Amino acid sequence: MLDKIKSLLEEVDSVKVASSSELESFRLKYLSKKGLITSLFEDFREVSSELKRDVGQKLNELKQKAQDRYNSLKKELESTDESDTENDLTRPAFPYPSGSRHPISLVRKEIIDIFSRIGFTVSEGPEIEDDDHVFTKLNFAPEHPARDMQDTFYIFRNSPEDSNPADILLRTHTSSVQVRVMHNQKPPIRTISPGRVFRNEAISARAHCIFHQIEGLYIDANVSFADLKQTLLFFARELYGKETRIRLRPSYFPFTEPSAEMDVSCTICGGLGCNVCKYTGWLEVLGCGMVHPNVLEACGIDSKKYTGFAFGMGIERAAMLKYQVNDLRLYFENDLRFLDQFKTVL
Ligand code: DAH
Repeated sequence: MLDKIKSLLEEVDSVKVASSSELESFRLKYLSKKGLITSLFEDFREVSSELKRDVGQKLNELKQKAQDRYNSLKKELESTDESDTENDLTRPAFPYPSGSRHPISLVRKEIIDIFSRIGFTVSEGPEIEDDDHVFTKLNFAPEHPARDMQDTFYIFRNSPEDSNPADILLRTHTSSVQVRVMHNQKPPIRTISPGRVFRNEAISARAHCIFHQIEGLYIDANVSFADLKQTLLFFARELYGKETRIRLRPSYFPFTEPSAEMDVSCTICGGLGCNVCKYTGWLEVLGCGMVHPNVLEACGIDSKKYTGFAFGMGIERAAMLKYQVNDLRLYFENDLRFLDQFKTVL
């Protein structure tokens, strides 16, 4: 046994390792519970009493040596950076770059959160739509200019002589989701519909052919314009700050009557006048109005029993006001230098 221990002492001394897996094999072979040294300690019990002292001493020496050798090999490995980086599972990972939410997603989420606090649910509809949902049921007259090829991307368009008017197109606004919701649900309805919309526009800092909107719809008995105004005031103060004021200017949309556009007091100067609000003190943020009775009827809702309001806003517009990013193209180009700036906003 003494011979065996002596040869192991030499062996341990001469071991070299080139990777952490080799180091681990060394540990398993000599130092682990099932290793050589443990089994020698087991054999040691059988050693005759006159040899016990010598053998015990040597065995302890071997154990110590193997442990020391293990420690120094480990140190050596750690100090040589190049050693088998692929297999060393104990190495700390390289700094892992974390992503960030897109500013449009951030603002969309914030708007959804605000409306969900007052009982609005989220509903969505398809981006590829038909003329019925985007225009006809929303009370657009057949010759309304918004149907024109200039604004709408048509996927499939019937000739005027065709008796079946099922034009297929990319929706130009999220108001189409109103139509779907009214068809599928009974009042009371309280819903917001975020989504992508498409218009045939030349791309510039101020216009894009793809952008995002959020549509709102509230239908019940006795819904009034005052309800619309209070809801929008609540929303504006939640999104743009407690001091925000709103104003409603008369406007026109085929699907609402009366219709209005809402301005908020300038988020930069608070209404005093600055170059963001072009010295007017106001910023236009959304369109709104009382749902036109023709729309209610076209969607199967009794307009004598129910009234409702609707509104629609651009998410890019809200993001521009919130983050002061005034070139629309930045929202679509996936430039990491831009997106990285939203890392801290969750
Ligand atoms: N759909 C309109 C647009 O794209 C926005 C809008 C205005 C939506 C008034 C509405 C509304 O629901 O009531 O410009």
